[in-house]
Amino acid sequence: MALATELLSDRCFGDFKRLIYEKVGISLNESKRCLLSTRLSKRLRALGIDDPAEYFKLVMREGSEGDEMQELINCITTNKTDFMREPHHFRFLTEHCFPAAVNLSLKGEPRKLRIWCAASSNGHEPYSLALTVRDFPAFDPSWDIRILASDIDTRVLAKASEGVYPADELLVLEKTQLHRYFDRGTGSLSGKVRAKRTLRDLITFRQINLIESSWPIQTKFDVIFCRNVMIYFDLPTQRKVVEHLIRYLKPGGFLMLGHSESIQWTPCPLRSLGHTIFQLS
Ligand SMILES: C[S@@+](CC[C@H](N)C(=O)[O-])C[C@H]1O[C@@H](n2cnc3c(N)ncnc32)[C@H](O)[C@@H]1O
Repeated sequence: MALATELLSDRCFGDFKRLIYEKVGISLNESKRCLLSTRLSKRLRALGIDDPAEYFKLVMREGSEGDEMQELINCITTNKTDFMREPHHFRFLTEHCFPAAVNLSLKGEPRKLRIWCAASSNGHEPYSLALTVRDFPAFDPSWDIRILASDIDTRVLAKASEGVYPADELLVLEKTQLHRYFDRGTGSLSGKVRAKRTLRDLITFRQINLIESSWPIQTKFDVIFCRNVMIYFDLPTQRKVVEHLIRYLKPGGFLMLGHSESIQWTPCPLRSLGHTIFQLS
């Protein structure tokens, strides 16, 4: 059964819309009713439930920390991503952020770099960050480098930590990068590649909800990538999230947003460097 838009009544659409907004900050306007219906229909089919209102009751009965709430979140998130998506950000790392960290180390600062990929989806972005780090010649083994990759969606986090991808998703990489950083799969993994330990060892995957008022993070970051997630939030939520992210940036640290995202409020302690790159003054 493919649930049609009209089957998601005004009342039911309103209930899901409110719940999803409260739980993950995703703002669903009328134009998303069809999308929500389609996505819910898959879950309903898997559970053998016909009526979305019944499904809503089930989610509410299990409560905010229930498994079905997580299933609902997993089915409503949009996870589109790519390797080296918006490549100017990776160039900026190599040309500005990493040399700046090396310069500081020459002045006696610890050889340490912390990067947060705050909506890491299926992992293409954190692995792109990891290979950009590994490709930077001045980062010898004496450097302590960590990448935190987080998302709200447990299904994409599981996929990302496996690090297995269809080989054709990596065509954007240079051949040398492909050979250096990925193993070619055989047998059941034929046609796929797996990120090598040298990349995987840099990354820690964790579930973090960007709209929570506190995050279980003790460190401050040199660079935060928070790309192509803010578009799903309304302006007050965007502002809340960016102001929260700023508290996790080191002075002089960089925040990268997605190509259609911006900071539309003042005052803001971030200085725009153009191309959706911001620096904490
Ligand atoms: C379109 S993907 C962007 C992936 C990657 N940053 C990129 O630009 O290629 C958006 C991701 O944001 C995640 N997301 C949505 N709401 C979130 C929230 N409240 N907290 C954390 N992640 C969230 C989704 O699960 C999804 O994986």
